[in-house]
Order: sequence, then C-alpha cells, then structure tokens
Amino acid sequence: MKKVFLLSLIFLIGMSGVSQNNSSIKPGEIWPDNEGKHINAHGGGILLNDGTYYWFGESRLSRGEKDRTNYGVGCYSSKDLLSWKNEGLALKVINDTSSLLQPGCVIERPKVIFNKKTGKFVMWFHHELKGQGYRAALTGVAVSDKITGPFKYLRSLRPNAGIWPVNFPEEFKVPNPEASGLKSWSDEWVQAVKEGLFVRRDFTGGQMARDMTLYVDRDGKAYHIHSAEENMTLHFSELTDDYLDFTGRYYRVLPGESNEAPAIFYSKGKYFMFTSGTTGWKPNPGRISYANKITGEWTALGNPCRGTGDENKTTFGSQSTFVLQVQGKKNKFIYMGDRWIPENLADSRHIWLPVEWENGMPVIKWNPEWHLYKTK
Ligand code: GAL
Repeated sequence: MKKVFLLSLIFLIGMSGVSQNNSSIKPGEIWPDNEGKHINAHGGGILLNDGTYYWFGESRLSRGEKDRTNYGVGCYSSKDLLSWKNEGLALKVINDTSSLLQPGCVIERPKVIFNKKTGKFVMWFHHELKGQGYRAALTGVAVSDKITGPFKYLRSLRPNAGIWPVNFPEEFKVPNPEASGLKSWSDEWVQAVKEGLFVRRDFTGGQMARDMTLYVDRDGKAYHIHSAEENMTLHFSELTDDYLDFTGRYYRVLPGESNEAPAIFYSKGKYFMFTSGTTGWKPNPGRISYANKITGEWTALGNPCRGTGDENKTTFGSQSTFVLQVQGKKNKFIYMGDRWIPENLADSRHIWLPVEWENGMPVIKWNPEWHLYKTK
C-alpha cells in the first residue's frame, strides 16, 4: 500500500512538471524547464562552458504585442540539451528612468561569448528605447565574470560612426542627389540602397544595429553581425580584442537583400549563415548563404527548407536565431529558430531541427520529435 502511495506521488510530481526530464526534442511544443515552465529565452543563442550548455534569450512578458518589452535576458543551463535549469535573469532591466535599460525598453536577440584574454563573458543585444518603437536601432553591451551573470550593462550605441565600410567603393562615398527623391522599394531605390544610400545617411551618427548575432572566428577575433541600413544590408563589424567595442573595421554583406535573423556556423572550410527575410513576427522563406572567409564575399544559396511548399514558405513556421554545434561531434549542427507568438511572446515556441546536408549545402527538414545525436 505504502509502495502504491509512493509510486502515485512520484507519478503526480512528474505530471505536475516539478521535475522535468525531457528525452527528445519536440519542435513547436511547450519546452518545460526544471520548474515545469516553458523556456523563456527567445531569439537566443547557446554558449558551451566547462561541459555545460548555457542558453541565453529574451525573457518576455506574457502580454500582447503592444507591450514588446521584456524582463531582460534569461539564462538556462543543461548538460544534455534536453533538460534545462532556469538560472534566472543574466541581465535585468534597470529600475531607473535615467537608464537606457529601464523597463519598457526592448532587448532582442542577446548573444554571449567568452573572451579568453580577459576571462570575461560578453553579451551584446539589440536595444530599442522605451516608447520609441524600433527607431533607435542600437546595440547594447554587458559584461560578467560569471557566465550566469549578473551581467553589468555598459552602454548602447550605433556602431562605426564616422567610418566607411572596408568593402565600400570610393564612388559610393560621394552623395548622390538623385537618390534622395526615389520611391521606396522602386528598383532605382533598391539600387541606390545597394550603392550606399543609408550608409552615407548614417555615417555621422553610426550605422543601425537591429537583428544581430555574434561570431567568434577560429583566430579568436569576434564579429558583431547586425541588420543595418533599414534592415536592407547586414554589417559584419569586428570587435576589439576585449569584445567590448568595435574596431571600426566592418563589411557590408548581401547589400540591399533584406536579411534578418543571422545565425552563423563553420563546417569543413566554409562559413554558413541562415537568415530570414524581413516580415516582422510573421515567418517567411528562410535563406542560406556561404563564404570562404567570415568577412565575405557571401553567396546566397537559396531556401534551406526541404518540406512542403507551405512549410518552405515559412521555414516550418520559424525564424532563425542560432546554430548550435553539438559537443563531441565535429560536424553536427542544430538549427535553432523561433516560432513567434506576438500576442504572447513568452509563449513563442522553439524550433530546433538537425542540420542535414545536400550536396554540401545545409538543409533542414521538419521532424515533430527527434533524438539528439548520440555523442559517441
Ligand atoms: C523581426 C525580428 C524580431 C523582432 C520582430 C519585431 O523581424 O527578427 O527579432 O524584432 O521583427 O516585429
């Protein structure tokens, strides 16, 4: 009798989600953390440190689209990529109306990297100011001695003020009076954007930095990759040795092609990048590009989705955020995306799919439930 009671108790605890052991990845489902709550780390990325994975992402309020704000950056830890412990907020909004990071500001797509030289963890994120929509287009930086935080917020800025991109022809630096009156989205306007219309506009104040990721190259140099020029062009901006600032060396990538949600990885001598188009919270057809060097030239390879027509049109209802390299398997990668739920951003779903290969091109296929690559 006692045994039956004990067994029922264990069963009930399990059902209530108090202790959660996930055994498979179920894209699009609720993904319970160790407290049974859906993982609140959106637009995120993962850093492996001392055999533990740390997942950082937007910690969102369970409110409607009108309140796009968040609590800060959530952090979760895991050894197996399935069961995640809530480590709390790595970066918190600051309860002070004189701070740019005050409640009501927008913190999106945070990424954390480790700096071997300083021994510090560095976080960058897309930062919009309270009550200003997406106008500010800033990027914020924070630093911590401990991976789980608390991260100290340093500042927010628009990168590369007063500096031309490395790969920007001389003739683009000269104002083009004809470009100013062009109708948005006309062919001539898109051409003018490709030829640096917005780079020139933002030259003095600094380039826009919206959707973003970080990438540490094999030589230890880190890059901040951000949607700039009204989301029309990606900028690959080199970070200083301590990763806390920009060196001023930056490269325009895929000019005028409207890429957001960059997620980069390296495999067999090539760099690959998942991106999305620019349709806000609504998913659109994914894109994959490659380069032989991180700073380009980047070449678009098309849509990496291998599903039905409808699935390919929405990247299986997701938008890329990160590619995770699985520990112990040199060439195993996981595509991480967000299925946004704008009326309740906290409830947005995590779409993790294994990266597969098709003639050297990374592709993704839908799988409603899959098991991680065995590490050995
Ligand atoms: C998306 C972007 C998201 C968020 C959203 C707001 O394009 O990737 O991170 O900014 O727009 O509408």
